Amino acid sequence: MIGVIFGVIVPYIAVAIFVAGVVYRFVNWANSAVPLKIPTTGGQQKSFPFIKRTIYDRFDSPYTWWETVGRMILEIFMFRSLLKNTRYYLDRASQKDARWLWLFAILFHYSLLLVLIRHSRFFLQPVPEFVEMLSEIEAFKGVFIPSVYISGLAIVAGLFLLWLRRIFLSRERTLSLPSDHFALILLLAITISGNIMRYFFKADLAAVKELLMNLMVFNVGKAAAIADSIEPIFYIHFALASFLLAYFPFSKLMHAGGVLFTPTRNMPNDNRAKRHINPWDSDPSVPILTKGITVSGMTFTSKKLDWDTYYSMYTDQLDEIAESDYKIVPEEL
Ligand code: HEM
Repeated sequence: MIGVIFGVIVPYIAVAIFVAGVVYRFVNWANSAVPLKIPTTGGQQKSFPFIKRTIYDRFDSPYTWWETVGRMILEIFMFRSLLKNTRYYLDRASQKDARWLWLFAILFHYSLLLVLIRHSRFFLQPVPEFVEMLSEIEAFKGVFIPSVYISGLAIVAGLFLLWLRRIFLSRERTLSLPSDHFALILLLAITISGNIMRYFFKADLAAVKELLMNLMVFNVGKAAAIADSIEPIFYIHFALASFLLAYFPFSKLMHAGGVLFTPTRNMPNDNRAKRHINPWDSDPSVPILTKGITVSGMTFTSKKLDWDTYYSMYTDQLDEIAESDYKIVPEEL
């Protein structure tokens, strides 16, 4: 019965939540208005022809579509902005290199990639040659039977380093929410249980593969028949992985897809050449519109709040700010 619950019912529910959740998040992001041009830039933006730009400037302050794509690729595969991680101390007017975070992040993410690619052997028949080859290359043989997968241990090390950072560094501890710890603990539980299964309490891998192959083609009866024969250690790992799948779309882990929709990264910095129109103020039939401005006899309005509504929504907070001698005045339009 445990096998049927955690081997068939729970994973199906988890995959359904994952797919629906990811689609929901993507549709929501794709439909969100981007009112401002906000690429984060660090380099020389495109300007007069005699102002030279290096290759770094092109990725820091992309102007064309291709430069923006290049920046995104470097961001996704190299975590380029994290490679600039520097800590500033305003009081001492000094800075400190904090790029070890980049190293920890790369260690975790690339290990995860390798582990997941290797896991495809449970889902694919025949197993693709490059998966076999990859497993062969990173297998550390001779000390332990079965051979030790380096990425399987490196992922645990990477997760511990990322977690210890949040525990021992006071600033990071202050900034960390319970959900930040939770994601790391969940991933640690999955990876540690996977390693325990590989090296200590072995599961019947042929049965695992048969279960997964049947689940994938919705051969529920056959999957349920196999499920009960598999060892409990597998179900600990599998239930945790199912939980991760269901939790993923609603958690910070969704940054994996969110990076593609991030305006600070996916917008070219061509503000001076092309006017960015706030979609809240735009009317597709008229190219340049600004709230309150009258163009060709038509005044365009947007969904902005007026001061009285805004004040009634945030009366307490605004009064509190005013008590500290700050002037609270409506914006002049
Ligand atoms: C559909 C979900 C999953 C299934 C069916 C599954 C299955 C398994 C099995 C059967 C093993 C033992 C392999 C062996 O003895 O060689 C294992 C190991 C392992 N699993 Fe998973 N797993 C799943 C998801 C995950 C996820 C999401 C992660 C990472 C976040 C993960 C990380 C690991 C690690 C680190 C090991 C140790 C051995 C290695 O490096 O391959 N697993 N998994």
